[in-house]
Amino acid sequence: MPINPKYAQDVWKDIGESVQFTVLKFKDLPVAELQEAFTTFVGRYKPIVHSLRIRDGQPNGLPSSLKIAFGLSNHAWDILYPNTAKPKELEDFAGVQGPKYAMPATEGDLFFHIRANNQAVVYEAQEQFMRFLKEITEVVDSTQGFRYFEGRAIIGFIDGTEAPESYEAADYAIIGDEDEDFINGSYAFAQKWRHNMDFWNKMKTEHQEKAIGREKFTDLELEDEDKYHNAHNVASQYEENGEEQKIIRMNVPYSDPASGNTGTYFMGYARHWRVTKGMLQNMVDQSDYLLTFSEILTGQLFFIPSRTTLEAMADGAFS
Ligand code: HEM
Repeated sequence: MPINPKYAQDVWKDIGESVQFTVLKFKDLPVAELQEAFTTFVGRYKPIVHSLRIRDGQPNGLPSSLKIAFGLSNHAWDILYPNTAKPKELEDFAGVQGPKYAMPATEGDLFFHIRANNQAVVYEAQEQFMRFLKEITEVVDSTQGFRYFEGRAIIGFIDGTEAPESYEAADYAIIGDEDEDFINGSYAFAQKWRHNMDFWNKMKTEHQEKAIGREKFTDLELEDEDKYHNAHNVASQYEENGEEQKIIRMNVPYSDPASGNTGTYFMGYARHWRVTKGMLQNMVDQSDYLLTFSEILTGQLFFIPSRTTLEAMADGAFS
């Protein structure tokens, strides 16, 4: 059976104008209580999203821009479905370690990536979800991201150029028939970075360009010999059998400028978790330039079930 993107959640488009990333963990409650509340929530999820899309639709017939991916971690899977086979590559992200830098693993059971052109819709979606989840969860992290000028990362460079374009993106984002039971699902890696913007902003543009590997204004790629050896677009590349591998990246900036809390919420969706993991390992192994002025605050892997799998979960077919 080939992949069918219409059964996948919103894992390859769109990045959105207003973005909410939420990581929740289960409270220390009896497993049966968690299972029951989760099943109720999953049953409510589809009608909530559908209703919001109707409410957000434009009077002139334009469709709603609301896009959502919702998933669960390996830890959550073990609690909710201890007797059910898992997606093949689902595991706890254990962190990655390089000679100088590390990327930590942080807690998380449930994950939401909600985006739309209208912040009110994003708010309403998370608010309605929490009505069904707040009794059983605690917040690990809640971050509001936004689209920056021209789709640039907060460090001023266009972000996403070498990621697949939308016509081919589904093939990189969605699990295929290598895992038939979980086809049209996806592996989402969510990682919150804080940047030392004072350090970065003091760097001359020419040095920033060498650090990223591209020109800042035009976005043209530099010749390899003009890049730093640990330029981000060198260190983050990952190959298998000599072939460069790709994932779908939907990073956006977040910022509270008054307190200086500014960074990038990295969001990667992949058909194969091992590809994202390979990129992360290469970044720490090569001391990616981004790591020299950043602190990594969170990181966890989540499985984003297909719409079909969500329905089976709501029907109690997995328990
Ligand atoms: C969180 C801070 C990050 C920022 C601000 C950032 C920004 C960028 C920018 C500006 C580019 C160049 C344009 C493009 O091709 O998209 C890029 C490329 C890339 N990034 Fe990141 N990135 C971040 C983290 C990561 C992480 C954690 C990964 C891996 C899991 C990653 C994987 C990649 C890849 C694979 C490329 C394309 C390299 C190429 O083939 O040229 N990035 N990133």
